[in-house]
Amino acid sequence: MVKNDIRDVKLSKKGALRIEWAGTNMPVVKSIAGRFRKEKPLKGIRIGACLHVTTETANLMTALADGGAEVSLCASNPLSTQDDVASSLVADHGIPVFAIKGEDNKTYYKHINSVLDMKPHITMDDGADLVSRLHSDRKDLVKNIIGGTEETTTGVIRLKSLEAKGMLKFPIIAVNDALTKHLFDNRYGTGQSTIDGIIRATNHLLAGSVVVVAGYGWCGRGVAVKARGMGAKVIITEINELKSLEALMDGFDVMPMSEAARLGEIFITLTGNINVIRAEHFRVMKDGSIVANSGHFDVEIDIPALAKMSKKRRVIRDFTEEFTLSDGKKIMLLGEGRLINLAAAEGHPAMVMDMSFANQALSAEYVVKNAAKLGNKVYSVPEELDQRIAGLKLASKGIKIDKLTVQQKKYLASWEIGT
Ligand code: ADE
Repeated sequence: MVKNDIRDVKLSKKGALRIEWAGTNMPVVKSIAGRFRKEKPLKGIRIGACLHVTTETANLMTALADGGAEVSLCASNPLSTQDDVASSLVADHGIPVFAIKGEDNKTYYKHINSVLDMKPHITMDDGADLVSRLHSDRKDLVKNIIGGTEETTTGVIRLKSLEAKGMLKFPIIAVNDALTKHLFDNRYGTGQSTIDGIIRATNHLLAGSVVVVAGYGWCGRGVAVKARGMGAKVIITEINELKSLEALMDGFDVMPMSEAARLGEIFITLTGNINVIRAEHFRVMKDGSIVANSGHFDVEIDIPALAKMSKKRRVIRDFTEEFTLSDGKKIMLLGEGRLINLAAAEGHPAMVMDMSFANQALSAEYVVKNAAKLGNKVYSVPEELDQRIAGLKLASKGIKIDKLTVQQKKYLASWEIGT
């Protein structure tokens, strides 16, 4: 048995079936895996991955292994691991996994160190925790690294901050910035899976509810549209003028959280910032308000403040904790304020992770092929890869599209023809 720290290896049978199920909706990753098996572009490469341990991630891990890579995986969030998947990766695929759903913070970082112990050549992060360790406690391992990839908005922000300070020690491909990632995964994936998580945790009816969405980035837009589609009245809170205007013109009410807090019934944060919902907001919320986060880290809701204001707290359902304030008002916190779509549901559906993880696989291959040319910067996914993934996805759905005629190409390259 390969090295691991997982819940229970006996869960592997269920995990294997669910991984297979997800795989049927990941045709792009499957086609890349097919090519990887023949070409072995990752032969001899050790990839340390810190990703949500889900059925979709399992399909990415096996694709990388098909490409000849040695992979090792830990969780990118203490609550997002699917224990049966971890078990199948270890038992059926011989991939070392260090992840247990519900692990405490100490174990979470111990697991990150276990992955780093394999001395990776490539890091594959979702939130930049591997890279952050490599720039602090595990600096000695940087010499082995040829590059990394980053899955999410929050991670890219952290990495760009390292780059801006001149501290980034190896190149990173910002998978999140690929159009085939954030326009689909962040919008449609987060949109659906966040609502899924809230419903699984509460069984609350969205129709007729007032839903406050904090943040109108791609994730917030996705959630707002899905909530409205299910009959909720949606309020947007934002700090950015353009995004606020866009939300208004998309037909949503826009106001500060101080006002929205009085009106909302369900609150969802997706801002990437800290203490977006805090004591002053809890104070004016309605009795029974539901508060959830779908941003990367559990910092968006000021949970210590909520705890301090409360005289009693109890877990009333799986992933639903009831806080009773001193005046008797109750506030429901979902999934410990961690990303609710992965804590209480299964994260984004395979159909959308197919594109995100195709970007991961092709970016890893790109790093291997171009390592010598890359500086210590955060790079976008090359447009050619983005287009290739979109093309493969369309082809997998049997959809053909038009091509420019010779005349149209000439027209687009000219300035002479007007009205
Ligand atoms: N991030 C969001 N959804 C995910 C999923 N299903 N698998 C891995 N990472 C995710």
